[in-house]
Amino acid sequence: MSQALEGVRVLDLGHVQAGPTATQLLAYMGADVIKVEMPGRGDITRGQLRDVEGADSLYFTMLNSNKRSITVNLKSVKGKKVIEALARQSDVVVENFGPGVLDRQGFTWERFQELNPRLIYASVKGFGPGPYAECKAYENIAQCMGGAASTTGLEEGSPLVTGAQIGDSGTGVHLVAGILAALFQRERSGRGQRVEVAMTDAVLNLCRVKMRDQQRLKAGPLPEYPNRAFGEAVPRAGNASGGGQPGSALRCAPGGPDDWVYVIIQPPSWAPLMRLCGREELIKDPLYATPEARLPHMSECFSMVETWTRSRSKFEVMKALNEVDVPCGPILSMKDIYEDRSLYERGYLVEIDHPERGRYVQIGTPINLSLSPVVVKRSPLLGEHTEEILASLGYDKEAIAELRKEGAI
Ligand SMILES: CC(C)(COP(=O)(O)OP(=O)(O)OC[C@H]1O[C@@H](n2cnc3c(N)ncnc32)[C@H](O)[C@@H]1OP(=O)(O)O)[C@@H](O)C(=O)NCCC(=O)NCCS
Repeated sequence: MSQALEGVRVLDLGHVQAGPTATQLLAYMGADVIKVEMPGRGDITRGQLRDVEGADSLYFTMLNSNKRSITVNLKSVKGKKVIEALARQSDVVVENFGPGVLDRQGFTWERFQELNPRLIYASVKGFGPGPYAECKAYENIAQCMGGAASTTGLEEGSPLVTGAQIGDSGTGVHLVAGILAALFQRERSGRGQRVEVAMTDAVLNLCRVKMRDQQRLKAGPLPEYPNRAFGEAVPRAGNASGGGQPGSALRCAPGGPDDWVYVIIQPPSWAPLMRLCGREELIKDPLYATPEARLPHMSECFSMVETWTRSRSKFEVMKALNEVDVPCGPILSMKDIYEDRSLYERGYLVEIDHPERGRYVQIGTPINLSLSPVVVKRSPLLGEHTEEILASLGYDKEAIAELRKEGAI
């Protein structure tokens, strides 16, 4: 069966995480992604945080499945010719170099348009136009400047970054949305366009409930927050729910670091929760009966529920609460998730063989298209497809040997 993006070629000048996340999703949807890497070194992540000597790191392998790799020296005259030939045959170019890097090599938006007016040129930068436009950025910088870190953590504690890579991978996902829209518009306009996503913008977009709360602060303290004091900015609210339904993380048995469950008290959940906790008298008690009445003493409500959860495992709590339609979620460790066979059975976690590292676990696609099945393939070795790609561009054996001799590939 064909795939959604079959026939779409992506010239992938991405590195580290944000660009590779975007191109991996495009590859999963069927695009032919040609990853251009620096000769001899490749994407810097190939060699970072290695767990198997001599093998590409898991950082690299897990972000570059289903792609082909070609080595090209962007700074050599003949290397630039290869990039130009690839740009002429591509539908999309993706890059997330530091500001000005591609311009310095002559690959401006104008140049790409000359080479191929149908080309979509998609870039990730740390910041949009403005005072920081020339600054480099990494994940945690984007989290700090996009509003995530100041609003994450405990009231008394330092700002915290989240484990979810919202600055890198979150930006990559935003970029894919822009690329797909540009491909769709090109169907009608016949023209490519620029797609730009700033990491700090993507993080702020994911923090929109906190911007909502900044504006609500004008009307006074935020009643659903567990915080004691409110200043001029949205405070760190621990594990309070960002929505209108109060929620909290509660301890479970046997008391290990991840033996917790997150419970939400929707209005209809109050009665079944109190029945489970043996506190039926509170169902109709005017101090607790309505969401408004409960709001001022939510922590007391949650500690009553916690006296019940503490003697059960997080999975027992999940089962019991779902039986009475109370939304909850056990806090799953990465080990819990890694060992969850149901994720492998439905193909979201995939075991893959790699020639250098042996078997490893890859996260497949979270986007499921009924007409576009995904077969997850291992990441390419450095330059694994250099010769076949050059041959498809018309380079013969002698010309390829010459490029190699001159350090252009
Ligand atoms: C991530 C980031 C901070 C890394 O910074 P860095 O390691 O200094 O890398 P840069 O992108 O600035 O520069 C890469 C250099 O390698 C060179 N390079 C990269 N690929 C090359 C190739 N195939 N051949 C020759 N040179 C190459 C570039 O030309 C550039 O050289 P220059 O500085 O002399 O112009 C930076 O790329 C950045 O801010 N990117 C945008 C935001 C982003 O995506 N950040 C998150 C990444 S997950």
